Amino acid sequence: MCGIIGIVGKSNENVVDRIIRSLEKLEYRGYDSAGIAVISNGQILRQRAVGKLYNLKEKLINEPICGNTGIGHTRWATHGKPTENNAHPIISKDVAIVHNGIIENYKELKFDLQKDGYIFETATDTEVAAHFLQREIDQGFSPSEAFAKLLKIVEGTYAFVALFSMFPNTLMVARHRSPLIIGFGDNLCVGSDANSISSICNEIAYFEDGDFAEISKDYVIFFDKNFKRVERKRTAISPDLTNCGKGEYAHYMLKEIIEQPNAIRKTILHNSVNADLLDGVSRILILACGTSYHAGMVARYWFEKFLKIPTNVEIASEYKYRNPIIENRTLVIVVTQSGETIDSLEAVEYVRKNSNSKVLVIANVKNSAIARVADFLFYTEAGVEIGVASTKAFTAQLTLLAGLAFCKHEFLLQELQNVPTLCEETLLLYEHIKKIANDIKLANNAIFLGRGTLYPLALEGALKLKEISYIHAEGFAAGEMKHGPIALIDDNIPIVCICPRNELFEKTISNIQEVLARGNNVIVLTDRIGSESLPSETEKIILPNVHVEFAPIIYSIPLQLLAYHVALLRNVDVDKPRNLAKSVTVE
Ligand code: M6R
Repeated sequence: MCGIIGIVGKSNENVVDRIIRSLEKLEYRGYDSAGIAVISNGQILRQRAVGKLYNLKEKLINEPICGNTGIGHTRWATHGKPTENNAHPIISKDVAIVHNGIIENYKELKFDLQKDGYIFETATDTEVAAHFLQREIDQGFSPSEAFAKLLKIVEGTYAFVALFSMFPNTLMVARHRSPLIIGFGDNLCVGSDANSISSICNEIAYFEDGDFAEISKDYVIFFDKNFKRVERKRTAISPDLTNCGKGEYAHYMLKEIIEQPNAIRKTILHNSVNADLLDGVSRILILACGTSYHAGMVARYWFEKFLKIPTNVEIASEYKYRNPIIENRTLVIVVTQSGETIDSLEAVEYVRKNSNSKVLVIANVKNSAIARVADFLFYTEAGVEIGVASTKAFTAQLTLLAGLAFCKHEFLLQELQNVPTLCEETLLLYEHIKKIANDIKLANNAIFLGRGTLYPLALEGALKLKEISYIHAEGFAAGEMKHGPIALIDDNIPIVCICPRNELFEKTISNIQEVLARGNNVIVLTDRIGSESLPSETEKIILPNVHVEFAPIIYSIPLQLLAYHVALLRNVDVDKPRNLAKSVTVE
């Protein structure tokens, strides 16, 4: 989703390069156009370009702009196609604004502004904010008064940063449901996440939903939604954030796959679950999206088996729309890497309005919006995850959920300690999986199969493949094949089957036989003992022997590597696959 940067320079330094560098750190969020605006001698200068940031950089080389206060934006189109004209910053005479989110009542606001003679030049919802602020400034209101009025009237989600040509050292910023962080250092700045501004500042302040702030050369004034001055806490920026480049790796995704043993180790070390938090809980409801939802699906098997608590898992984006009934004594668990996903945030809001359930959040990004609404908070210690395809955050989520599920089973908690080493061994399959990727690279469709806790993993394997290789892939519970999907099987469709030696092994083997009778491209992920009973026509990826309960964590790794290699063979930019955003901040 959109990324935002704003910098108020202290000296006469040109901030354009710094803005570009910060925008580069936001590229992972996903975008299709980008732009910058600065104030120079009381005038707003702007450059925008469609596509990747290098297009904007090229424009800036040919037609440079400079100024010591500026804003930048990477746009993930919602209202209006990704054209240069719709790219942010959006200008209305003396005001330039960047926006992440959706203004839901933009049509009414537009109608009203058009009546007052404002001419709309873009197809964006954001343009109403620019003209609205301009109208208030024209009527003699200050930037902070104009902002207060805008925020009273606007409905939807937003992170806004605006600059005003007649106030050359001032930025007005606001957020509601979309992330925005203020940074304090040599320069005062603002960004969509802490990493993006980590090279400009050493302290950051999070502000609350509905807050807005005036950032000047030397000070920041925070206001709450009632235009009352408030204080917001500053904290030192975490060293993790200043050291999260790609290093020697070709891609962030690969780096993050390889970081998994350490991410899991740290997650185990930094978390211990006190079983007391389950006292009186008679039901568990897990809410999440995408890969995090798959982690929740695995946890459901564990929770019911080991905690003996009935558990449901729901896709957060659907949850509130079916008016669900939340039973008393339900513990709600929200799983999220970014802690920003609007669907998960909305689902929590529904829970708050319709029950008195406690909400336990498992998040990777510290101080993120969802982390801040938790009753019980656990952080996965995966570190910054930049690759759009979630990898280390997923296995760290599984680790934390396992810690919760096994909190009364000391033996399993001990076994969990071995998982990082098993992950290290599994990573040695890198070259073998690279070869096997050739069996999939030309496919138009692929199927992933698993049973029990490995059924959610089949869904996850399929999701990884489709997001980064653009091959249509589906995950099925292996036993469901006969109920329909087996009609898809022919020699052209690769089938990836997750089949370690466990209590469902024989049944899964039967499902593999059924598939082999109709197709000939079957890849099986198994362990040494399992491999001995597999039909000879299958291609095998043999993993270390693992305790059955931890198979979902270990077997994630070959699935990630497979998707990664197939995507490389198909020349996809694995870290920035088309159309996708790392954090989904609009519904
Ligand atoms: O940040 P979250 O965990 O809440 O994000 C949820 C999904 O958007 C995310 O897992 C998405 O499916 C990933 N791109 C999958 O790789």
